[in-house]
Amino acid sequence: MSENSDITTARLMLRAWRADDHAAMMQLLSDPYVAICIMTDASTEEKRHAAATRRIDWFNSYWEAGYGVRAVAIKDPELGPPGEIIGWCGVAGYEGSQGEPEILYGLRRDYWGKGIATEAGRAALDDFFASTDAPSLCAIIFEQLNANSVLLAERLGLRKLHRVPFVEFSPGEELRNQTLDYALWRIDCPQAHEDTELMTSAAAKAGLLIGSGVGDPDTARDILRREAPNTEILEKLESAFAGTLNDPTCPYLRLSRA
Ligand SMILES: CC(C)(COP(=O)(O)OP(=O)(O)OC[C@H]1O[C@@H](n2cnc3c(N)ncnc32)[C@H](O)[C@@H]1OP(=O)(O)O)[C@@H](O)C(=O)NCCC(=O)NCCS
Repeated sequence: MSENSDITTARLMLRAWRADDHAAMMQLLSDPYVAICIMTDASTEEKRHAAATRRIDWFNSYWEAGYGVRAVAIKDPELGPPGEIIGWCGVAGYEGSQGEPEILYGLRRDYWGKGIATEAGRAALDDFFASTDAPSLCAIIFEQLNANSVLLAERLGLRKLHRVPFVEFSPGEELRNQTLDYALWRIDCPQAHEDTELMTSAAAKAGLLIGSGVGDPDTARDILRREAPNTEILEKLESAFAGTLNDPTCPYLRLSRA
């Protein structure tokens, strides 16, 4: 199917990204929790701008092969203003997936918990299998920090196959270094103290990266100890950090053509 083929579901419209959607993509990446889930350093306006450009290009780069990652826009006025972009969903290629196309999704946080990603994901999967003769697709998920994504993948019918070392599919070293800096900065950032979940995710991400050979564990531990506002949170941070440091792998899930 081509990038011109929009998909409509009961509540949503999925369509290819356009150049004038750049601001909407920047908006999606402006949530630090969403950014950390997808391993993107979008911590400054400049980085967010570059990350939005990179994502739109990446999401649109597989149309010739019959798939892509579409913008998820509102159709049902009960959900919000029709046409407003609230996320992304679809299928892309990825260097770490050994050639197997990967399903990708992300939603604005105020749209979580409404079944929107499931609705978009099912439509994207149907479109993918109708538009290609690919035998399967996969998902690789930062399980320890993204339980919602694992649940969603399973709801969409994907099943865990094995674990892959994080380093095998994480993009280039420069991005890994930037992402580690970003994770540590999140822990270090006073605003993060208001959001324990975000701090814990950042600690898990830091563990994944350092366990994969990027950066120094003692520096990260010092930051955790210095910045944790109390011992209860410090325990959570240290446990998240140690969990991924000692097991820097992610599950590989697959869905085969029915
Ligand atoms: C991953 C992500 C898209 C999942 O979003 P989500 O809102 O949990 O998933 P869904 O839209 O399918 O919603 C499912 C939830 O909505 C509830 N729900 C409410 N109304 C519903 C409806 N009409 N239909 C179906 N489910 C409904 C379900 O019960 C479920 O909640 P539960 O898990 O508490 O039981 C979201 O967490 C996200 O954007 N994360 C950041 C980006 C990211 O991590 N991407 C993936 C990287 S690997």
